[in-house]
Amino acid sequence: MKRILITGVSGQVGQAVYRLLSSNDEYKLYLTSRTPNIEYNIEELDISHERAVGTIIDRVKPDIIINCAAYTAVDLCESEEDKAYKINALGPKYLAMAAERTGAVLVHLSSDYVFDGKGSKPYIESDSTNPVSAYGRTKLAGENFVQENCNKYFILRPAWVYGQGKNFVKTMLSLAEAGKDIRVVCDQIGTPTSAIEIARVISFLIKTESYGIYHSTCEGSCSWYDFSVEIMKTAHKDVKVEPIKTSEYPTPAKRPMYSVLDNKALRERHNYLMKDWKEAFKEYWE
Ligand SMILES: NC(=O)c1ccc[n+]([C@@H]2O[C@H](COP(=O)([O-])OP(=O)(O)OC[C@H]3O[C@@H](n4cnc5c(N)ncnc54)[C@H](OP(=O)(O)O)[C@@H]3O)[C@@H](O)[C@H]2O)c1
Repeated sequence: MKRILITGVSGQVGQAVYRLLSSNDEYKLYLTSRTPNIEYNIEELDISHERAVGTIIDRVKPDIIINCAAYTAVDLCESEEDKAYKINALGPKYLAMAAERTGAVLVHLSSDYVFDGKGSKPYIESDSTNPVSAYGRTKLAGENFVQENCNKYFILRPAWVYGQGKNFVKTMLSLAEAGKDIRVVCDQIGTPTSAIEIARVISFLIKTESYGIYHSTCEGSCSWYDFSVEIMKTAHKDVKVEPIKTSEYPTPAKRPMYSVLDNKALRERHNYLMKDWKEAFKEYWE
C-alpha cells in the first residue's frame, strides 16, 4: 500500500485529490492543512515552516507527497510578496528537500501565471517563463526550487481553477443572485479547469515514473467573459453580462492576457487528453 501525504487538503484541488484518491484501496492518505480538523482527520501542517515539514515527513514516510497548498490571492500577493514567497516558493523547497531525503515522489502544483501572456499560441512546457505578477514570480520560484532540490517530481501547471471553495464560478453566481450588474473582462484568454480534472491527472501520473513539468488545463480556450456567459447559461440565470476590457477593470496584479497552455507532455508522452472546458464545467455543475 502506498502512503500519500496531501498538503493544503482543504483547498479546491486538495479536496478533489482527496475525494478521488480516497476511493482507491492501494493508497493510505495522510491529510494535512494549515488549519487542523480532528473530525476529518486533518493534521496541521504549515508548509512554510521548514522544521514542521521535515518532522511530519520523517514520521509519516510517505511514498508520495502532493502539494496542494499555496497562497492563491493573486492581488494580495502584490502587497504581501514576502508572505507569498514563503508559502509558494519556500514551502515547495522544504517539501522537495524532505522528498529527496526520504525518497518520496513530489507532486507540486504551479500555474499558468509563470508566463507573461504576450504570446498568441498555446504555451508548451519548454517555453520561456516570465511572470508579470508577484504571485507568478513566487510560483516560478517554487517550481525552480522543486527542480533544484529533488529528482522525482511532477510539476503541474493548471489554470483558472474551480472546485469546492472560493472561485470565479461562485463569484459570478452570487453576483447574479444579488441582481448586480455583471461586467467581465473579455480580453484575457485562458482555459477554465475543474479541480477534479486536475486530480485525475495527478492520479494518472503518480502511477508512472515519467517525472517532469506538465501543463494540465482543460482543452480549448475562452475569455473570462465567455466563461461567465457559459456559467449563466448552465445555471439558467437570466442576467445580462457586459464584456469589458482589462483597462476598464484595474486590479493590483497584472494578469497574462493570453495564458492558454498546450498539454503537450501529457498528450505526447502519455496520450492523455483532459476534457474540453465546457464538458468539464457541465460535469462540475451536475
Ligand atoms: N485557483 C486557481 O485559479 C489556480 C490557477 C492556477 C494554478 N493554481 C494552483 O493550484 C494549486 C491549488 O489551488 P487551489 O485553487 O486549490 O487553491 P486554494 O483553494 O486557495 O487552496 C490552497 C490551500 O492552501 C492552504 N494554505 C495556504 N497557506 C498554507 C500554508 N502555509 N501551509 C499549508 N497550507 C496552506 C490554504 O489554506 P487556508 O484556506 O487556511 O489559507 C488552502 O486550503 C495552487 O498551487 C495554486 O497556485 C490555482
